[in-house]
Amino acid sequence: MTGRAGVWIDLADPELRCAITQGLDQVEALLRDSLAHRDPFVQETSRHLMLAGGKRFRPLLVLLAAAVGEVGRPGVVPSAVVVELTHLATLYHDDVMDEAAVRRGAPSANLRWDNTVAILTGDLLFARASDILADLGPEAVRLQARTFERLVTGQIRETVGPAAGDEPIEHYLRVVAEKTGSLIATAARFGGLFGGVEPAVVEALTGYGELIGIAFQLSDDIIDIASEVTDLGKTPGTDLREGIRTLAMLHAMAGTDPSEARLRELLATELTDDAAHAEALALLRRSPGLDRAREVLAGYAAQARATLQEVPPGPARDALTMLCDFVVSRTG
Ligand code: IPE
Ligand code: IPE
Ligand code: MG
Ligand code: MG
Repeated sequence: MTGRAGVWIDLADPELRCAITQGLDQVEALLRDSLAHRDPFVQETSRHLMLAGGKRFRPLLVLLAAAVGEVGRPGVVPSAVVVELTHLATLYHDDVMDEAAVRRGAPSANLRWDNTVAILTGDLLFARASDILADLGPEAVRLQARTFERLVTGQIRETVGPAAGDEPIEHYLRVVAEKTGSLIATAARFGGLFGGVEPAVVEALTGYGELIGIAFQLSDDIIDIASEVTDLGKTPGTDLREGIRTLAMLHAMAGTDPSEARLRELLATELTDDAAHAEALALLRRSPGLDRAREVLAGYAAQARATLQEVPPGPARDALTMLCDFVVSRTG
């Protein structure tokens, strides 16, 4: 799962495949250049996660959305780099917040150095993203600012948890849209805008991005429960240990199925103890709550696919449709 983008989506059309491969190579080169620094230590911390791998899902989405119009236009690759840099910066910060030790199959920055270095490196990546944005114009800067505000709001709401009277599943879905749907929607929007796509289609692509972004996070949360460490590139069970109650857990907690009684008991505790954590994870893996989360994921993927009816048919739309299958199939 830590391999390059494009490996896991089979682009049938040779012309599109060529354009996307070329675009991804340009993204890679610009990403690397944008993280050059005269101080070798700062360069090392800044390039650490970029070099560790990653799927480049968001840059791929920028390129595919742009390919609905013209993928070779000037703002496309820089906007894809802005989105990946923003994503990378949030990963540096997220691993501090989640106390995560592994990211993209490598030690997280907070583990390799410390929290301070990880936080400041994330900030440096935001600075570099802003630098590239400045050349893309004020509308792009504003879009990025508003996207980032939504993302951070989602992370704050997740940290604080639902307020008294909030419905936990509604709260969770709102957090997911904010923390992950926001940036993935903007990836699709940047692609449409800089690819010269007509305004109504840009709106459809943005809506698609938001929905597939939600699906992407739902699948990430399912993978955190269901996956083995080897194919994840990060530590499974992190959400459970960090007290983040994702959809499968929320369904188990809200359910009345007697087979989930012990799981409900465990989920009401902190789960910092290794044995309790392992027991809860094992129960969760075969719980009806997990099946329910998979159904909800499939529902969002289907909704994202339906949005593409507003996009003109062609190889780019076909590839965007395939991404809807990918977000479901990657959960195994
Ligand atoms: C991880 O994103 C964080 C989420 C929003 C789920 P990715 O799964 O895209 O992580 P990388 O970029 O491939 O490492
Ligand atoms: C991270 O969500 C979302 C953002 C970084 C905005 P997660 O906490 O689920 O991501 P992973 O699982 O650590 O990649
Ligand atoms: Mg995390
Ligand atoms: Mg996760």
